[in-house]
Formats: sequence, structure tokens, C-alpha cells
Amino acid sequence: MIVRPRRLRRTSTIRRMVKETFIRVDDLIFPIFVKHGKGEREPIPSMVGHYRLSVDELVKEAEDVWSLGIPAMILFGLPKAKNEMGSEAYAQDGIVQKAVTAIKDRVPKMVVLTDVCLCQYTDHGHCGIIKDGQIDNDTTLEILSRIALSHAQAGADFVAPSDMMDGRIRVIRETLEREGFNDTGILAYAVKYASSFYGPFREAADCAPQFGDRKSYQMDPANAREAIKEALIDIEEGADIIMIKPALPYLDIIHQVRANTHLPVAAYNVSGEYAMVKAADQKGWIEGTAVMMEMLLSIKRAGADLILTYFAKDAAKVLNKGENIYTES
Ligand code: PBG
Repeated sequence: MIVRPRRLRRTSTIRRMVKETFIRVDDLIFPIFVKHGKGEREPIPSMVGHYRLSVDELVKEAEDVWSLGIPAMILFGLPKAKNEMGSEAYAQDGIVQKAVTAIKDRVPKMVVLTDVCLCQYTDHGHCGIIKDGQIDNDTTLEILSRIALSHAQAGADFVAPSDMMDGRIRVIRETLEREGFNDTGILAYAVKYASSFYGPFREAADCAPQFGDRKSYQMDPANAREAIKEALIDIEEGADIIMIKPALPYLDIIHQVRANTHLPVAAYNVSGEYAMVKAADQKGWIEGTAVMMEMLLSIKRAGADLILTYFAKDAAKVLNKGENIYTES
């Protein structure tokens, strides 16, 4: 007798019944870039369909995102000016602080996350403060906690430190508690690799390092055990959600972190992953929508609960139609 797994693939209804993994609109978090000015909607060439938006435009976008059913956005700010200390990052009237307040005002139920980092704000483009040509971990912690606090004061639901300095989750958690922001969550970029997939983002956010690289703080792509170590440290220090970044080249890491921890796990489907699909789709070399859904499904199957993705709106449109386009053509 032949064993026949194909019986369970025979019709679309049977396939529906035995499907193991689902993507929901609720799983998606939409990343967005915000800049100073009014009526600004500047396209980002390497990220088709994404813009640098002024706050007034961002608020309209937030309404659109919410109307698609997407529960959350993460904000990346483009400051007016950069300096050595990245001081606009923690200014009360900084761009992210203004944006958070404006979104919360217009779409109060939207969960607003903010990226906490220095690289967009420093003239050298590194994620930390430089002392004697080196990134000074502990000086950076103080600045990061000021940034996080200013975001919380503006109304952020979660702050998301992406710098990869040691000890930042603890310092941010302590600062938030001390200042009475007991309910502000922390989504930790716990496992962030020194990846070449961030290229389009660095163009969009103008945050490429002006000397050297990020290998003294972001992780070596060769390391998997270290991912568990990083995740456990951030959990111990007080993170509410832990994230792995990038997503697609690190599905094994997502899987292992999921298996070894109990917090919700997020994965960041980064700019390079997005740009490749859009570019190949524009050339007619792949079916972009189907590839997008297969990618997001794979990230969920690996174990992610939440996905930060530039595809969030595109995916929500597919999901809202109730189509299963990656299996049913
Ligand atoms: C800032 C930051 C980066 C990304 C998110 N936050 C860039 C970097 O670390 O160089 C990348 C996101 C993406 O590529 O989509 N530290």
C-alpha cells in the first residue's frame, strides 16, 4: 500500500481544513518615516510605495493604516539637524515626539511604537556616543533612556530600542518606572544582526555610519547561540516583546528564540527584504504579491507572533479580501 499524503491536498476545502499556519492583520506592524515640514510626501526610491512624510501627512496615513485593520505602527524620525550627541532624538519638540502626539490625537486606539536609537540623529551615523573613536556603551545608555522617556511622555505605547548597547533595556525600564510610565512597554530589538539587508533603510533614514561599521554592537550573522543569550538578557532586563532582525535570512533564529523563550516574538522583515521583492516584481521576474504572502507566512511558521513589515498595507489588503493567494491560484 502506498502512503498518500496527497489525499489531504486534493481540494481547496480540504487544504483549508488542514492548514497549520495563518497570517492575521493583527500580526502586522507598519514602519513609517516622519520628517519636519508640511504637506510633505517624499518618495523613497529604493522602497517603492514608501515615503518620508511630514506629520500632517503621517496622520492621514495612520488613518489609512487603521482603516485596513492594522493595529500598530513604528515610527522612525528624520531630524532637522544632526550633531555629535544626537540631541534632537530626545528633544521634547523632536520629530518623533510630535508625530506620536499627533497620531494619538487622531487615531487614539492605534498602538504607536517608536524606534529608540541615535544613528539618524548623530552626525557620525553610529547608534552610540563616540569617545576616543570608540562607541561608549555606558554614556550611550543615559542618552537612550532620555530618548525613551521623551517618547513615553509624548504618548508612545511601546519604545523599541534598536541600538544593541549592553544594558539598555534595564536602564530604560528603570527610567520609565521612576518617571511613572509603568504602562509604557518595551519591544527590544534583542537579536539584531549586522546585516547588509538594511541598505534601503539607511538611505531612507540617512543613517549610514560615516566611518567603520556596526559590527562592534550588532551581531555576527554566523552566530545562533548568541541569539538565545541576547534574548534571555533582554527578557531578564524587562522587555515585554523581543524581536529578531532581519527576518527571512534568520528564520532558524526566530524558531530557536521562540522555542527557548515565552514572551511574544516579533520579527523585522527589513528594508532589503522588501526592496528585493518589489524590484523583481517590477521586472516581471516574480509574482510580487504571492511572494510577499509566502514570505510573511514563512516568518510566522518559523515562530514569529508579530511582523514589522513594509508590506503591512499590501498584505492587509490581501487578507481583508479573505483570499489565500499563496496556496490557491
Ligand atoms: C536604526 C535602525 C536600522 C533599522 C531599524 N532601525 C538601521 C541599522 O541598524 O543600520 C533597519 C530597518 C530596515 O532595514 O528596514 N538602528
